[in-house]
Amino acid sequence: MNDPRHDFSEEIAVQDQAAVAYQSLRYLKPHSRDYHLWWTRLMLENVSLDGRILDNGCGTGILLDLLKGREVFGVDLSMKMLTAASEIDDRVVRGNSLELPFPDRSFDLVLSRSLIHHLPDKEKGIAEIARVLKPGGQAVFVDTNRSILSDLPRRIANRGEHFSESHQNLSRKVFERLLETDFEIERIEYFGYLAYPLAFPDLYDFSRIVPKIEAVTRFLTVVDRIISRVPLVRRQSWGILVRARRSVI
Ligand SMILES: C[S@@+](CC[C@H](N)C(=O)[O-])C[C@H]1O[C@@H](n2cnc3c(N)ncnc32)[C@H](O)[C@@H]1O
Repeated sequence: MNDPRHDFSEEIAVQDQAAVAYQSLRYLKPHSRDYHLWWTRLMLENVSLDGRILDNGCGTGILLDLLKGREVFGVDLSMKMLTAASEIDDRVVRGNSLELPFPDRSFDLVLSRSLIHHLPDKEKGIAEIARVLKPGGQAVFVDTNRSILSDLPRRIANRGEHFSESHQNLSRKVFERLLETDFEIERIEYFGYLAYPLAFPDLYDFSRIVPKIEAVTRFLTVVDRIISRVPLVRRQSWGILVRARRSVI
């Protein structure tokens, strides 16, 4: 995109490739698709879905699919992602989350599923979400959590084609800092421990070495839910979910 401060060409190339992997593996294989749907539904708990919703960095449209029938719009940088998403909902536009192509105060809910860690200027990305949200509107973020579980493999994965150098795991502290000016945090949840790595067959296909992977993933998802309730241990997760409300000025 034409932003003189940031060169998005690498990000677009990576995401165009990832779009193919999402459609042919991540969201196609039953065990990984079901796992992703499970935690995507977590994003929609305790938020009002009645007004205008923005799926920020919509990718191939996993959230758009769950929000069929709602007044939902999608935005993404990658044309390949958008081509796939437009098969689910045609209210998707090409745009940059650092300069959202929407007027001030035009949404009641903004969802950012695995987007923020991609942004070279996270502060600007959050300010844009605050700008397009109506006062009192809600935002839900899910991203990779900085933890013992996530740090080592991510370093290894960084060498692959799915992540560019600017991608990094986030954390509760980072979200608290990013959101302090314009939002009140309502809830922070941790999720994804043992089952999580099985759900990325585009990065490593565990079905090659794990028999009955669907049943194993389902079982480990139950274990994960239990772990997510254990104080302190639960913070060592792969995923973090943050729900926040736009301050009323
Ligand atoms: C990890 S993918 C997640 C896609 C989708 N939300 C999902 O969960 O399947 C990150 C998405 O953010 C998009 N993205 C990255 N940087 C962006 C930016 N500056 N503006 C808009 N979209 C961006 C990518 O093209 C990609 O589709």
